[in-house]
Amino acid sequence: MQNLEDIVGRALREFEAAPDPASLENAKARYLGKAGELTALLKGLGALAPEERKLAGASINVAKAGLENALEACRSGLADAKMNLRLAEEALDVTLPGRGRTPGGIHPVTRTWQRIEEIFRSIGFDVADGPEIETDWYNFTALNNPENHPARSMQDTFYVDAKDSSGLPLLLRTHTSPMQVRYARTHKPPIKVIAPGRTYRVDSDATHSPMFHQVEGLWIDEHISFADLKGVYTDFLHRFFETEDLLVRFRPSYFPFTEPSAEIDMQFADGPFKGRWLEISGSGQVHPSVVRNFGLDPERYIGFAFGSGLERLTMLRYGIDDLRLFFDGDLRFLKQF
Ligand code: DAH
Repeated sequence: MQNLEDIVGRALREFEAAPDPASLENAKARYLGKAGELTALLKGLGALAPEERKLAGASINVAKAGLENALEACRSGLADAKMNLRLAEEALDVTLPGRGRTPGGIHPVTRTWQRIEEIFRSIGFDVADGPEIETDWYNFTALNNPENHPARSMQDTFYVDAKDSSGLPLLLRTHTSPMQVRYARTHKPPIKVIAPGRTYRVDSDATHSPMFHQVEGLWIDEHISFADLKGVYTDFLHRFFETEDLLVRFRPSYFPFTEPSAEIDMQFADGPFKGRWLEISGSGQVHPSVVRNFGLDPERYIGFAFGSGLERLTMLRYGIDDLRLFFDGDLRFLKQF
């Protein structure tokens, strides 16, 4: 079969000479494709006598298998060459000096945290820090939270698989208020402190995150009144938002650890939230039972407390409408601060 050897010889030369995958596939089509030369030989078998057909068929199939192997080898040869070229082009010289790091930024909630510390420090408040894993007593009982308060339920609070010395399960603090008790029990009046930090609740949507931040404030002395709370907090808002052009109101409310209690609302004269009353903090005069749990005589010591959400303050300051943006880690958002 002179013809067969000739075809195989040419096919092999063309496969090997193909400079790129496209020319290789074209060469394949010329020999092994539907209208290819080898395919034509196979098709011609029908015209041969049975004996001849068997022999010729066998040798054409051997030739075909050989060409297919050669084709595969050429394909991977070309792929390797391409990869080697890329590796050479993209070679990295690890001995070169670095190009420097781009500077990171301060998270907007951390900015708020820092501003709050600065403002309260400037009027004589200490800044305290405490545990995020809290006991039932500090988080609830010492703060006059009744036994059946909903915050004590599993649906609202993250409990930890460990118990305190009185056999009650530990929990992730649901507010920064236990810091009132921790601080007051270890310091002498006058007590004047803020305690910013992380807090946790089983809650998650556009305005709630299971982890969020609060700042607790506490001022206890012999003559600290609700008027002091109004003055201190209003002044804080003016300085935090850098404007005196805002309204503040103290709306009667209820918290177990204060009496009387008030929700602090504010309203901007300008900007995206203009004209709306916005709830921004809980507050009140510390309840006598809580003062007693501070280890102090409620006949002598009196004062106020407040607890505000840092995300809330940050959203109002920068005009952010979705709390989840704070925790996504999306640089397009974070780079704006
Ligand atoms: N702990 C309260 C909460 O998380 C907020 C709060 C209300 C704190 C009144 C206070 C206060 O100190 O006086 O909802």
